[in-house]
Amino acid sequence: MRIPLIAGNWKMYKTPDEAKFFCERFKELYKDTDVQALICAPAVDIFAVSEAFKGTDIKVGAQNVYFEKEGAFTGEVSVDMLKASGCEFCIVGHSERRQYFGETDETVNKKAKALLEGGLRPIICVGEAEEIRVAGTQNDHVKNQLKGAFAGISSEDAKKCVIAYEPIWAIGTGRVATPEQAGDMCSFIRETLIGMYDEDTADEMIIQYGGSVKPENISDIMDMPEIDGALVGGASLDPDKFMNIIDF
Ligand code: PGA
Repeated sequence: MRIPLIAGNWKMYKTPDEAKFFCERFKELYKDTDVQALICAPAVDIFAVSEAFKGTDIKVGAQNVYFEKEGAFTGEVSVDMLKASGCEFCIVGHSERRQYFGETDETVNKKAKALLEGGLRPIICVGEAEEIRVAGTQNDHVKNQLKGAFAGISSEDAKKCVIAYEPIWAIGTGRVATPEQAGDMCSFIRETLIGMYDEDTADEMIIQYGGSVKPENISDIMDMPEIDGALVGGASLDPDKFMNIIDF
């Protein structure tokens, strides 16, 4: 049985004080649902968010990590640092990181391996740009991203990974993929995982949809049988909206 995972991706928003303010309101609103709630905060907010959520079952994650254990890597944050700050998850390969910060399938793979080795769960983002969808080659594109991201990862470790399918044309644009487009790609991802691993492994893996998810569209998205949750950007910044998404 896969427990749905709905994660907020705050991107580069909220100071630690603003993060605490969010958490206090979110805790007031929070009620147990069948969904696992997660907030992926900017690195400087992680500690404050984990402190605020102590004693609740709301999980905390990061948005990026460096794959080396430690060393002279100015500006980077390690897996151990994230873990000690209260993280259980970390997003890797978000399209914004691929676009602006040179993230490649190879670095995604190294980061995923480092996270797994340190006991954190990677949320591996995949998804196509608009021109790829127009050309009709989105399945090949996503399959290649999956192969790159999971190279050398055992099936035991793969089960701990989350995949977020985020079509780039739907991120922050208000242009949500139709539930069918999202559902079809998530089914294709599950099939690809069966090919890469086996049915049991693929069956345990959480596949999220991301891209303009809101309280108004979450239930249609979650109705799709192969979609196990969502990665929510803009709408996760407001505690009331994010709670409405979790309690869809
Ligand atoms: P959005 O972002 O919900 O604002 O479209 C999703 C994401 O980038 O993870």
